[in-house]
Amino acid sequence: MNSEPSRPSSSTAFARSAGGAAVQFLPPALLDRLGSAGPRYTSYPTADRFVEAHGPQQHQQALTQRAQGPGRAAPLSVYVHVPFCESLCYYCACNKIVTKHKERGAEYLDLLDAEIELWVRGLGPRAAVSQLHLGGGTPTFLSDAELGRLAARLREAFDWLPGIEASIEIDPRTVTRDRLVHLLGLGFNRISFGVQDFDAKVQQAVHRVQTFESVAGLMVDARDLGFASVNLDLICGLPLQTPASFAHTLAQVVQLRPDRIALYAYAHLPQRFKAQRRIHSADLPPADVRLHLHADAIAAFLAAGYEHIGMDHFALPDDALAQAKRQGRLHRNFQGYTVQPDGDLIGLGVSAISRVGPTFAQNAKTLEEYADALAQRQWPVVRGIVSTRDDLVRRAAIMALMCQGRLDFSALAAAHLIDPRTYFAAELGALATQEADGLVTVHDQAVEVTPLGWFFVRSIAAVFDRHLQADRARERYSKII
Ligand SMILES: C[S@@+](CC[C@H](N)C(=O)[O-])C[C@H]1O[C@@H](n2cnc3c(N)ncnc32)[C@H](O)[C@@H]1O
Ligand code: SF4
Repeated sequence: MNSEPSRPSSSTAFARSAGGAAVQFLPPALLDRLGSAGPRYTSYPTADRFVEAHGPQQHQQALTQRAQGPGRAAPLSVYVHVPFCESLCYYCACNKIVTKHKERGAEYLDLLDAEIELWVRGLGPRAAVSQLHLGGGTPTFLSDAELGRLAARLREAFDWLPGIEASIEIDPRTVTRDRLVHLLGLGFNRISFGVQDFDAKVQQAVHRVQTFESVAGLMVDARDLGFASVNLDLICGLPLQTPASFAHTLAQVVQLRPDRIALYAYAHLPQRFKAQRRIHSADLPPADVRLHLHADAIAAFLAAGYEHIGMDHFALPDDALAQAKRQGRLHRNFQGYTVQPDGDLIGLGVSAISRVGPTFAQNAKTLEEYADALAQRQWPVVRGIVSTRDDLVRRAAIMALMCQGRLDFSALAAAHLIDPRTYFAAELGALATQEADGLVTVHDQAVEVTPLGWFFVRSIAAVFDRHLQADRARERYSKII
């Protein structure tokens, strides 16, 4: 973050700018204090807990155990990371390689082939897959022919189950209606467009210029062609964003009526992401304005009929995610919220993370290291972790809170043979602060997340994160001595 968040002077601006009654209850002080408190829990333990001692051998062992276990036939999720982008967006915090050399796409597909071969050997041929996601970077950096080659390889290696959710992240500047037709033909049925902001000045400041008209045209095409769900990514807190400029972008987004919206708060970490050093800190909205932008966006989406899924995600009431939330069927994996059952995940490509039973494994982050391992027919795994029994109990608690908004003590007791009230005595005590803030209610049978709490659910989940709490305790201790 560019500066320490400061409290807005009053909440009346929020009530005014919110426009709809729906979010007048979202107290800016809470947004300020808890808006991004805690990890996003796409996994537990979180990826920053992975250790280098978990390498190819441990990963192979996990696969051998899977092959002998009862879950060996359970459907899998497959994630493919395509790291290339044609041009650099200055805000970007993704794992990407910016290049104009299109031939790198085919070279990368050779590497993916080699990795897929290892998986086929480990899982057996044609393992069942119910979810596929191509992310990046920019998967549509690949040509139509290359995407066709990748899809064909994935179909040959895995059994794409009927009703498979196949999604792809798209930079709108890289596709046309014809390319969308091609993607649909390959079996993709869900797409996500990176928009971030429609304002021309903001777009110039972040070096990502794309017109509203071009995105609007693609949205019409996507609908017309019958994609099951279209998502738009937005970022609030970008340079030169003002409440007035962002209100215009929000109105344009709502007008396009995407099925889903992901609203991210801009993570400015120029020490870590070199490209962000090109953003002038003076252009970044101050903390109080950032909070307004965030609250305005939430208000605009709720007023337009979107349902809040959790954290940064919104969906139209008839979208599968919104239906799953209402029916308590939401799950969470590295792709975020999903309607897919909680199963194993195959991560293909640089930096991709896999989950096999209670283990996680992450591939090398650089192309060189990834290619070196595959040249030797070795798993390109560089880090990972085997969950302990305690990790599994906490994972169940965290996912129940993040996905169902309810941690049911009897369900946890039955699944893990513990008495949750005793096991989590300290955590339930620590929830008193969140209870006083109106984010949760704790009673004899369960912890329940309130509608307000869904906006801050990561801060509630974080209470159950033993690793994070140990770090925080150490920090407090080192401040005292
Ligand atoms: C891999 S990109 C999306 C696909 C494609 N490359 C594109 O840009 O259209 C994933 C998303 O991460 C979000 N993102 C990237 N950097 C971010 C940052 N520093 N803070 C918050 N969100 C960020 C953006 O919304 C972006 O659309
Ligand atoms: S936002 Fe998307 S297109 Fe831009 S650099 Fe990041 S991954 Fe590439």
